[in-house]
Amino acid sequence: MEANLFLLIVDIDECVENQHFCGERGICVNQLGSYLCKCPTGFSNYGNRQTQCAELNCDQYETQPGQTLPGFDSWSLLRNNCLVLSNSMLPGLTRLLPTGDVLLTLLVNTTDVVQLGLQSNGHRSSSEVTKLLRTIEISFRLIAPLLTENVTRIETNHTEVEIMVRRDKTPPEGPVSLTNENTQLDTTWETVVGDDQNYPGYAFVILLSHKNLDSLKDSTSHQSQQLMSSAVTVSVSNSNTTYLPQQVNLTFHHLQSSDVDPTCVYWSDENGPGVWSGRGCTLVMSNSNQTVCSCNHLSTFTLLNKVQQGSGQLSLVMWVGVFVALTCVVLSLITTLWCRFVSRKRRGGHRLQHEVQLHRK
Ligand SMILES: *[C@@H]1O[C@H](CO)[C@@H](O)[C@H](O)[C@H]1NC(C)=O
Ligand SMILES: *[C@@H]1O[C@H](CO)[C@@H](O)[C@H](O)[C@H]1NC(C)=O
Ligand SMILES: *[C@@H]1O[C@H](CO)[C@@H](O)[C@H](O)[C@H]1NC(C)=O
Ligand SMILES: *[C@@H]1O[C@H](CO)[C@@H](O)[C@H](O)[C@H]1NC(C)=O
Ligand SMILES: *[C@@H]1O[C@H](CO)[C@@H](O)[C@H](O)[C@H]1NC(C)=O
Ligand SMILES: *[C@@H]1O[C@H](CO)[C@@H](O)[C@H](O)[C@H]1NC(C)=O
Repeated sequence: MEANLFLLIVDIDECVENQHFCGERGICVNQLGSYLCKCPTGFSNYGNRQTQCAELNCDQYETQPGQTLPGFDSWSLLRNNCLVLSNSMLPGLTRLLPTGDVLLTLLVNTTDVVQLGLQSNGHRSSSEVTKLLRTIEISFRLIAPLLTENVTRIETNHTEVEIMVRRDKTPPEGPVSLTNENTQLDTTWETVVGDDQNYPGYAFVILLSHKNLDSLKDSTSHQSQQLMSSAVTVSVSNSNTTYLPQQVNLTFHHLQSSDVDPTCVYWSDENGPGVWSGRGCTLVMSNSNQTVCSCNHLSTFTLLNKVQQGSGQLSLVMWVGVFVALTCVVLSLITTLWCRFVSRKRRGGHRLQHEVQLHRK
């Protein structure tokens, strides 16, 4: 009895102390020496009892004809996962959900198959590439907060993923670096978190490398436009990444050592089905083995050998062709005129025969 009284006296009501613990919509419940956050329907803290409740939009996992990738059949699983997470009326069901690791393996396995499908399809359309990348992006937003390890890596035949998750009470700070076989990402936790007023109690950063480059070729561009490195997708818990206050740096190892000047590009799908674009990315350093790019937004990035140079080579071939053709025309004109001139000097009857002989040559 005495001990209980003592505990009651020292218990601090965290919910009164800090209104932000559970987010704007979360309900803070004080407990002896602790607290927990209850999330209203449509919100979740991914089973972490003490973090902010973030809004979940499960409609984005709806299979819409023409909007999602054929072959990606994990949508219903993701949607169910989302619905259970966002409904606190079903707390018991959370235990039945597949873990973050299982969902991640499924996603990576599926994108592998889809990439293979796009490749064997021959004529990959830009919009299919866009769908694949969007699918990966929105799936990771659901899966990453469910991962329990600080660092998770998965590698398959066509995909290599590294995910780093932090669950600190306060937003983490300082540099963060992720690497895989051919690429390195350098950024800061400040960029990963974004607006720290809305810090949901976790932060994640993802570096996904697409090893099957062919499926990411932009079908509308010149044949001469070639990827000089792997393509990588970078995703972070901050969802406002169209203009970052601080640039992220990507170091690409060239697939083959090359002295061609590369261009840093990202997959742009804002206006149309999708195309490689250099907007917002600058080249920091390049040698024959590697190139460092600095970009002010997040997306899927790669290196192209210079676009202008590609079309320049094409038109050079064209001009050489035109020059050769014109030279032939001029030469044959001169030959014909010269023949006429010569044969006119000769006497009468053999003229016609002579000309025919010359033409046969
Ligand atoms: C993913 O693919 C690997 C290798 O093919 C397989 O071992 C694993 O069981 C698959 N995982 C899932 C969840 O399908
Ligand atoms: C991965 O590639 C290896 C070697 O090419 C092949 O033997 C294996 O079947 C592939 N695995 C999958 C799941 O495609
Ligand atoms: C994971 O990171 C936290 C800090 O964010 C650290 O306290 C913990 O020891 C790490 N766990 C492992 C297994 O490295
Ligand atoms: C990226 O590179 C630029 C130029 O080298 C540097 O000033 C900046 O600090 C780098 N950013 C990160 C996050 O490493
Ligand atoms: C997104 O980030 C930019 C730059 O940090 C900021 O100016 C803008 O207000 C943010 N937008 C939203 C909707 O938070
Ligand atoms: C590129 O790599 C090769 C082999 O690893 C090395 O010999 C060469 O010095 C490197 N070049 C530069 C500019 O780093």
